[in-house]
This record gives sequence, structure tokens and C-alpha cells, in this order.
Amino acid sequence: MNVLILSCGTRDKVVQYFKQALGEDGKVITTDCNPYAPALYEGDIHYVVPRMTAPGYIDVVFDICRKEKVTGVLSLIDPELSLLAKHREEFEALGVTVIGSSYELCERTLNKWEMYCWMKKHGYPCAKTYRELSAFREAVEAGEVTYPVFVKPMRGSASLQISKAADDETVEFLFHHGDEMIIQEYMTGQEIGADCYIDLISGEVVSVFTKKKLLMRAGETDKAISFKEDMLFEKIEQFVTENGFRGQIDIDIFEKDGVYYFSEVNPRFGGGYPHAYACGADHMTLIKNNLFGKINEKKIGNYAVDKVMMKYNEIMIIDAVADRK
Ligand SMILES: Nc1ncnc2c1ncn2[C@@H]1O[C@H](COP(=O)(O)OP(=O)(O)O)[C@@H](O)[C@H]1O
Ligand SMILES: [Mg+2]
Repeated sequence: MNVLILSCGTRDKVVQYFKQALGEDGKVITTDCNPYAPALYEGDIHYVVPRMTAPGYIDVVFDICRKEKVTGVLSLIDPELSLLAKHREEFEALGVTVIGSSYELCERTLNKWEMYCWMKKHGYPCAKTYRELSAFREAVEAGEVTYPVFVKPMRGSASLQISKAADDETVEFLFHHGDEMIIQEYMTGQEIGADCYIDLISGEVVSVFTKKKLLMRAGETDKAISFKEDMLFEKIEQFVTENGFRGQIDIDIFEKDGVYYFSEVNPRFGGGYPHAYACGADHMTLIKNNLFGKINEKKIGNYAVDKVMMKYNEIMIIDAVADRK
């Protein structure tokens, strides 16, 4: 059994965990468009590939699948999730399982406005969101929303172009100086992250890990603490099942006055996943079981609590690549 990890970037630990889970049972193949993506060199075999947007990119991926007898494929970056989902049948014809959600779901989660509409329709508490300045201003007039508010791109990621705005003038400026911006009620309270695995065969949520975010830095969780709360597990399970996610997902949640507000979903391994793994939520083994045709047993909350994750930097040294000197 061989696993292909696309756009591995700097996610060295994710590659290492897969190697650990597969052991003698298979190889881990990594790709990235940059030869200086350190996680490439954690794989058993690696390929430097064209950019995801280059013509013929997907055929390069199919070729790797054939050559390396790949059993399962996943990507670690948002825009590639929809691409994999779109080609699911072609992958299947090659004997490759796409470890991820449907095309429709990948698209919905990439678009924070679409996700908001879905959550509202299905009755999940979430931050009030506006896609038009006029609708936002009407809501301010009506007292539905108060300053400060949060302005961010509809299809943003990595906390790029996100801002807090305290008045109409700032909101207007931010709204017109970004790409398809949305305006949101400013959320206070405890930020929570959830790393979940939804069995690829049964469709059941089989593992949920939750952490309270203690410190955010450069758009990432820098410090966090693991915790458990049955009511939150129930809400997450309901939310995930109703959406219909598959495989690994990462959810951002705010907790205020005992209410859990769903904020956003990344249907892939999130940057903070190593915290979950270190506490015992080994989702690589769950993937391996699924690729072997085995359904995973549901074990929600099967991890150590009160474990604090603190991020720090690592480096890797390699020989310069000929055309990049
Ligand atoms: N409505 C909001 N109110 C307060 N903080 C927010 C709000 N939306 C996002 N944030 C903060 O900004 C971060 C990034 O926003 P998010 O919606 O998760 O986008 P992405 O992670 O895709 O860039 C969140 O982790 C959270 O800390
Ligand atoms: Mg986020």
C-alpha cells in the first residue's frame, strides 16, 4: 500500500507520521512544485512537479500513481482538494482512493460565504456574515450587528488580509481593497480547533480531537491545550455528519457563554494536527485501515487531555538543486 501526499510543503511531521503508520506495509510518496519544500525529503520517494495550475498537472499526478502503484492520495493545500475530488473517478480507475470530501463540499468550505449560508440554513450558531456593504450597513442601522467587526476574504486562507474594523470608513476601505471580501460579526470568546476523521467506508465520524487555542501567531495556532467536552463532541459529530465530510478535516470553533459557534472548516490535515497526533489521535492509521478495506471503530475523545502544544522552528539542509543555484 502506497500513499501519495501532494503539495507537502513544510508539513514534515504529517509525512513522518504516515511513514510510521505504514511501516513495512508501504511507501510514502511526496510531491511539491518547489524543490525546497522540506517535507519532500521526508518521503520514501519524492517528485518535484509543476504548479497545480499548470496545464497537464493532473496527468503528472496520474503518472506518479501508475508508476508508484499508489493506493491513496491526499493534498495538504486548499485549492488542490477540489481538483482531487473532481477527478475521483479517474483515480478510482487507477486503483487510487482519494482521501477527502466531495467536490461540492470542498468548494463550499473554500468559500466562507457559502459555508455561512449553509450553517444558517441548517441552524448552526455562527457569526453573522454580510457579502454586500449595503446589507451590512442596513444591519448596523437595525442594530443587528455592532462594531468592531471582522473583514476577511470570502475565499481566504492562512489568515491573509484579515482585519478588525471599528467604524464604517475602515470597513468600506477594507471591503474595496481586497478580493471579494465579507464582513462578519466580531467573535469574542474561546477559540477551539477540532481535528476529525470521518471513516472513508462507513461515513461515520470515528475520531475527534479538540483543543483550546492559547496563542495565535502569524495566522497559526502557536500554543494550545487539549481538552474534552461531551456536548462539543456531539455538536461536532452532528455538524460533520450533516455536511457529509469524508477523511481528515479541521474545524475552527468559537465558544461563548456555553454556545459553540462554527467558524470554518478545512477538509484536510490542518497545520495544528501534530498536537492531536501527539496526544494519541493517530489518524494516519485510520487512513491505512480504510485503504486496506477495513472500517474503523468509532472512538471519540480517545486522547490525552491537558497536554499543551508549543510550536518551534526546525531546519533541514540539502544540496542545492542544479537549476536553482
Ligand atoms: N468573525 C471573527 N471574529 C473574530 N476573529 C475572527 C473572525 N473570523 C476569523 N477570526 C480570526 O481570524 C483567523 C483566520 O480566520 P479564518 O476564518 O479561520 O480564515 P483562514 O484560516 O481561512 O484564513 C481565525 O483563526 C480567528 O482567529
Ligand atoms: Mg482558519
